[in-house]
Amino acid sequence: MLIAGNWKMFRGPDPASLAGLDAVICPPFTRLRDCVAAGLTTYAQNVHWEPEGAYTGEISAPLLLELGVAGSLVGHSERRQYFGETDETVAKRTRAALDAGLRVIACVGETPEERERGETEDVLRRQLSVLEPHDDLVLAYEPVWAIGTGLTATPETAQETHAFIKSLLDVPVLYGGSVKADNAAGLFAQADVDGALVGGASLDVDSFRAICETAARIPS
Ligand code: PGA
Repeated sequence: MLIAGNWKMFRGPDPASLAGLDAVICPPFTRLRDCVAAGLTTYAQNVHWEPEGAYTGEISAPLLLELGVAGSLVGHSERRQYFGETDETVAKRTRAALDAGLRVIACVGETPEERERGETEDVLRRQLSVLEPHDDLVLAYEPVWAIGTGLTATPETAQETHAFIKSLLDVPVLYGGSVKADNAAGLFAQADVDGALVGGASLDVDSFRAICETAARIPS
């Protein structure tokens, strides 16, 4: 089970309060150094495909590695929705990060409109078509309608979708979208749910700790 906390553009809790937790933390850039210093497995929320260059506002894999960062999220739906991230740029970011030695959590998932139109599998097929299996690659299935909304996919829907994803790309798949301490156990009990990418609930130390403890109780 892999539990990752995505702090998004929030300052987040004191990294020292998370010491010893078996989890990945994805803080905003300004807090990367503090998380690394606290001994946390720290991932960035985004990474560029070039090692350096004139790309204002971006960050490269070598710069992250220099800081002790272990990996990065790629292709979060908020990047796709608000910042023009495409399947092609997701592929470029993922490949470059893995080649440089970072681990990657690549995010996929359908919007509410796509789900209503019955396009979930087509969307996932398209998003996954640009990715290749790699030992350091993990996927996060985050249905956009479940992110920050309090709506969670049922454990059965998550299981079914994760199994579909793995039939296309055989890597571990985390579930993301309103994962909380009180719905984590049902999701983690599913055979193809390999952990969670937690947004809102990762900002609260007690909630996040409870989710990590629930994961630790699942036999591997
Ligand atoms: P949420 O966010 O847990 O607040 O729904 C998940 C994510 O966007 O990674």
